[in-house]
Amino acid sequence: NPTGVDLRAEIDRLRKEKNAVILAHYYQDPVLQDLADFVGDSLDLSRKAAATTADVIAFCGVRFMAEVAKILSPEKTVVLPDMAAGCSLEDSCPPDAFGAFRNAHPDHISLTYINCSAAVKAHSDIIVTSSSAEKIIAQLPMDQKIIFAPDKHLGAYLNRKTGRDMLLWDGSCIVHEAFSETELLKLIALHPGAPVAAHPECPGYILDHAQFVGSTTAILEWSIASPAQTIIVATEPNIIHQMQLKAPHKNFIGAPGADGNCNCNMCPYMALNTLEKLYLCLRDLQPVITVPEEIRLRAKLPLDRMLEMAA
Ligand code: 13P
Ligand code: SF4
Repeated sequence: NPTGVDLRAEIDRLRKEKNAVILAHYYQDPVLQDLADFVGDSLDLSRKAAATTADVIAFCGVRFMAEVAKILSPEKTVVLPDMAAGCSLEDSCPPDAFGAFRNAHPDHISLTYINCSAAVKAHSDIIVTSSSAEKIIAQLPMDQKIIFAPDKHLGAYLNRKTGRDMLLWDGSCIVHEAFSETELLKLIALHPGAPVAAHPECPGYILDHAQFVGSTTAILEWSIASPAQTIIVATEPNIIHQMQLKAPHKNFIGAPGADGNCNCNMCPYMALNTLEKLYLCLRDLQPVITVPEEIRLRAKLPLDRMLEMAA
């Protein structure tokens, strides 16, 4: 660190001085995960953001996650180390086009994955995360017509699991789409008997080889509890940090992309957040998340529904 500042010590000092809580997603750099007060999946992080008594939430994740924190806790100052930390799923679903899609299907309700902008949430009936979607869908009548956006792979997985026929938006996560089935099969052949734990943002041809499919928290818990000594992990590889902390004797291998290793599956948006930027955002309380009040109030309704239905 060229400035000579002890960034970890400064972050600790600033967190106390500003009564801040640091929330981190499992896809963040391990350095940030280790500093965070809480690490979790999208649902865990939403719940923490809604319940915290801190004045400041420093969100080590991507922008839509920090927006959710602001929507649920408008009186808090929410900062994101790098405002450019977006998400390919959010980009695949522009609010105007989504609004038009909704209007074209007035007899459908909109179940929307949390990986989207606040403006898209404002057009939605119920938000879901990968850990809450099945539980929420089970509470809807079987004849309820549903549109599901923006992740077509998660949507297709949920259709298969729940026997529904949700109409799917054509969006995807660039990270989970980068896994190669050919390379995965080679890796499985190298480690006979090693189970594959996969995130439902993966395409179906990857999920077909998985013994377990779930959210990041679910993958983490399943992998730790599994009797297997070697586990292949088909999601963003930074989650392996938590697996290794909780089960140091086990061998966790990131599922490969077309180049045969797992580095191409690191989320480039999550990677924008760094220790330096976390320090600066706590010091300067910016970049700060703002959501126009009219959008916030409309986006809060489907988020509150998710928190109730997932409880
Ligand atoms: P979860 O942590 O809710 O499983 O979400 C994964 C993800 O891709 C977040 O961007
Ligand atoms: Fe978006 Fe995929 Fe990155 Fe998650 S991993 S933030 S879904 S691009």
